[in-house]
Amino acid sequence: MNPSAKSPAQTRVLTGITTSGTPHLGNYAGAIRPAIQSSTEPGVDAFFFLADFHALIKCADPARVAQSRMEIAATWIAAGLDTDRVTFYRQSDVPEIPELCWMLTCVTAKGLMNRAHAYKASVDANALKGVDPDDGVTMGLFSYPVLMAADILMFNAHRVPVGRDQIQHLEMARDIAQRFNHQYGRGTDLFVLPEVQIDEDVATLPGLDGRKMSKSYNNTIPLFEGGARALKAAVAQIVTDSRLPGEPKDAESSHLYTLYRAFASTQQAAQFRAALEGGLGWGDAKQALCEQIEAQIGPMRAQYADLMDHPDRVEAILQAGAEKARRVAVPFMDRLREAVGLRQPAMATKGKNAAGTGKGSKARLVSFRDEDGRFRQRLFAADGAELLLSEPFADPKLLNRLSRQLAQADLSGVQADAQGLISLEADGQCWARCPVAALEQVRQALAQI
Ligand code: TRP
Repeated sequence: MNPSAKSPAQTRVLTGITTSGTPHLGNYAGAIRPAIQSSTEPGVDAFFFLADFHALIKCADPARVAQSRMEIAATWIAAGLDTDRVTFYRQSDVPEIPELCWMLTCVTAKGLMNRAHAYKASVDANALKGVDPDDGVTMGLFSYPVLMAADILMFNAHRVPVGRDQIQHLEMARDIAQRFNHQYGRGTDLFVLPEVQIDEDVATLPGLDGRKMSKSYNNTIPLFEGGARALKAAVAQIVTDSRLPGEPKDAESSHLYTLYRAFASTQQAAQFRAALEGGLGWGDAKQALCEQIEAQIGPMRAQYADLMDHPDRVEAILQAGAEKARRVAVPFMDRLREAVGLRQPAMATKGKNAAGTGKGSKARLVSFRDEDGRFRQRLFAADGAELLLSEPFADPKLLNRLSRQLAQADLSGVQADAQGLISLEADGQCWARCPVAALEQVRQALAQI
């Protein structure tokens, strides 16, 4: 049973794909298909994105980055992603991500980044070549894990499904989050510590030569590009042993069988296996494999082609996704700016006149949810200064009612307690406590609400 279905709260699942290549069958079966599947589970709030800032680290060809973005976006959609249900966006459409990346960079130990596998691999390769250890290493490559941490922490993701090669990056994201929480959290955690999710039953597909299917090994089977013909041509190149038709084959050790299984039901896989063991020729086996893959991805091809022909449609979907993502990122970034000291608390809240600089500024009452999930309000004067923080309430309607009543109430004659605090009450309930000295300002502000 799916564990998130049991918990009443939503689990935020987030993952991204770097837009530097054309999706192949391995990306589909190993990442896109299971991600789409998990986004349909109850209790899952999925955030999927195109990691195009990450693409710049690996790829200096603008046309390739642009083309790949289209291909990957179209693939997600054609593969059945419900873009209304999930939040599907392009990293570079959310400027709060690079902003957060900088904040995180400032708490990340350089020593932590020195240990990153991708960076170390470059250094080792340089040592072998006898060149400078940092030859060809950009700051983008070096700080790659910080940007990835920003992707994840910006949305406080609980679970991050990735391949094994990304486990270290997730550990680093947790490390960075902890450090930030410790430094700026003032007792509350600003960031959720994300959990890596490695799906054991998700297929890692072998490529044409039997090694893991990967662009870097040049052994991939295309997903949509080139149509059914390209699929067939690639499958024809899958390496097999030299057993002839009629000779029994060892299904377990055959890449063909591994690929087949990733696109078949248990029963179909068992039949295919029995056929191979019974002497099915490799040519016929390849034909059967093509048909099996085609049965799943063939119906998606038309939509993929249609989207590739209409980039404006893809763009509209991505813009709607960015808007959704920013509904989370913008207010959270306000909080983070406040936490690190880049804003006064009053200026850190949303709204054009928050700083009190706009013409015709009025006092404002801002509702929000605190760390414990309870509702509070902050009252700001017309000049943007924060005047009051309300008591926490479980019921937001009650909170609203009290503040509305207080806005109408006559506050003269209220008495301060021994600490000089006035309890602002309506219906016998305390909405907020206000220092005597601030009462006049609070009255004026409430009158403008
Ligand atoms: N680094 C990931 C990869 O190469 C892509 C990625 C970027 C990512 N940001 C992420 C994955 C955030 C998960 C979460 O596969």
